[in-house]
Amino acid sequence: MLFKKKNTDIDLSSLDMKKVVSDAKLSHIAFIMDGNGRWATNKGLPREAGHKVGVEAFRTIAKKCKEYGIKTITIYAFSTENWSRPKNEVNEIMRLLDKYISEAEKEDAENRSRYYVLGDKERLGPELKAKCEYLEEFTRDNPYVVNIALNYGGRDEIVRAVNKLIAEGKTEVTEEDISSHIFTAHCPDPDLIVRSGGECRISNFLMWQSAYSELYFCDTLWPDMGDYELREAIVEFSKRKRRFGGVINK
Ligand code: FPP
Repeated sequence: MLFKKKNTDIDLSSLDMKKVVSDAKLSHIAFIMDGNGRWATNKGLPREAGHKVGVEAFRTIAKKCKEYGIKTITIYAFSTENWSRPKNEVNEIMRLLDKYISEAEKEDAENRSRYYVLGDKERLGPELKAKCEYLEEFTRDNPYVVNIALNYGGRDEIVRAVNKLIAEGKTEVTEEDISSHIFTAHCPDPDLIVRSGGECRISNFLMWQSAYSELYFCDTLWPDMGDYELREAIVEFSKRKRRFGGVINK
């Protein structure tokens, strides 16, 4: 099923979300944070204002995911295609990312998250690249995982993995080879991919990893996403019957 069902029959605020998450075996959620630009335009603001509020929405969502016991979250912060946006907008997104990365180090004790930056860091420039690498190293002993997809493309990731394997001398590759050479080799595939903003597509995000992910699309624009919308997505996930190509023996 592609679209969410409205959970109007349930009082979401009274649910024990830790139990819902644990019963549903939800360990990894990925987010396509769409709708920042429209959110800002609707308010007569420049698009960049939407990205700024979008970072705060991410902070809220990340905190709640941890509170509910979700071990890994992945966000699509900037795609390999996003470089074609107006220069001002690209610069502002990079500034926000740079700021977030600096703050993540300071907030380490509270975050308890191990960061991974997925994507080709070369194009980020030497300063931001070094900051990303420092954050990855600095947070390496933390129990939760936050993957930031930055200058990331799903097809590009698969091509890179195959080229790495060729460079290692492989002439034939297995699924395990590819899974262990993509940017997310350190974590399980996402159980759930949430896309805000009303569009129903994957946009080159986690192409390999999403083979058996449940997809959830909602109309809410990313800056308006909060605990209630997260609960809606998780509850919908908890109702899905995952078969992974097999049958359910119940
Ligand atoms: C999609 O909305 C959003 C992006 C391409 C950029 C998102 C990046 C940030 C919020 C900064 C990331 C930093 C962290 C750490 C969270 P859109 O601009 O395509 O919206 P639209 O579809 O309404 O135009």
